[in-house]
Amino acid sequence: MSNAEQIEYWNGKVGETWVKMQERMDRALTPVTAALLSLAAPQPGEDVLDIGCGSGETTLALAGAVGDDGHATGIDISEPLLARARARAEELLSAADFICADAATYRDDPGFDLIISRFGVMFFADPVATFANVRALAAPDGRLCFACWQPPADNGWATFPLTTLASLLPPQPAADPHAPGPFAFADPERVHAILAAAGWTDIAFLALPFTMVIGEGGDPVAAAVDFNLRIGPAARAIRDAGREIEPAARVALATALAGHHSDGAVGLPGAVWLVSARA
Ligand SMILES: C[S@@+](CC[C@H](N)C(=O)[O-])C[C@H]1O[C@@H](n2cnc3c(N)ncnc32)[C@H](O)[C@@H]1O
Repeated sequence: MSNAEQIEYWNGKVGETWVKMQERMDRALTPVTAALLSLAAPQPGEDVLDIGCGSGETTLALAGAVGDDGHATGIDISEPLLARARARAEELLSAADFICADAATYRDDPGFDLIISRFGVMFFADPVATFANVRALAAPDGRLCFACWQPPADNGWATFPLTTLASLLPPQPAADPHAPGPFAFADPERVHAILAAAGWTDIAFLALPFTMVIGEGGDPVAAAVDFNLRIGPAARAIRDAGREIEPAARVALATALAGHHSDGAVGLPGAVWLVSARA
């Protein structure tokens, strides 16, 4: 099984959109980043690996936490996102390294004290083999800590825009819940089985509910509409349906999202699993 489809996906338009949305995405995910880093507890001097590091938010934070005696490496399959991560490292004078590599095949000396990921591990064609490969990179007793989404029904940021646009969109095909994609790890029993089969132990799940702020600034509702048109399941559905529905989608989203505007921000419910394990 190969990750060729995901490599094409993350190196195409979607990768470029994620680069453009980097700052807004990192702000929207601030509560997840904070909780993930707190659970992972990187220590000065540790060697850490960030899987599917994207534009580098978590890798850069890890590099700061492990300090000059430690090291942070981010791997990803997306060249545009890695280019953004490297530029940020240069701006921040960070020693973090960013490598273009597939988690399924990446090889390095086994020795990472901590392996983390913020939403970068749900896209593997063969999750058991990939997590076994990742485990081979860990130091004895090395820690794994990652964030993945709970089911769509608990993630209003994904479902609310789609429900709002239902009358404009063709019927959405029933998706395979385990197919590589943002919600592939929604079922903790499945994730537990994958990690156990790959040899990980002490597997634990922590539920993190949070409010995902998708619109702020001078016009939070317009910002939230823009967010939904660029990223997430609604953006993908509009792309698939054809850009001609975008003006009507804009109006429908603005009306619906205005109902979620309070204190200068538009927020929708998010629900994440923080998963931890030991090599
Ligand atoms: C939802 S994005 C998250 C990016 C980043 N961690 C963040 O939170 O902003 C998923 C990332 O996983 C990367 N990815 C997907 N499959 C991968 C694989 N097999 N190996 C390494 N990275 C992968 C994608 O290129 C993308 O950057």
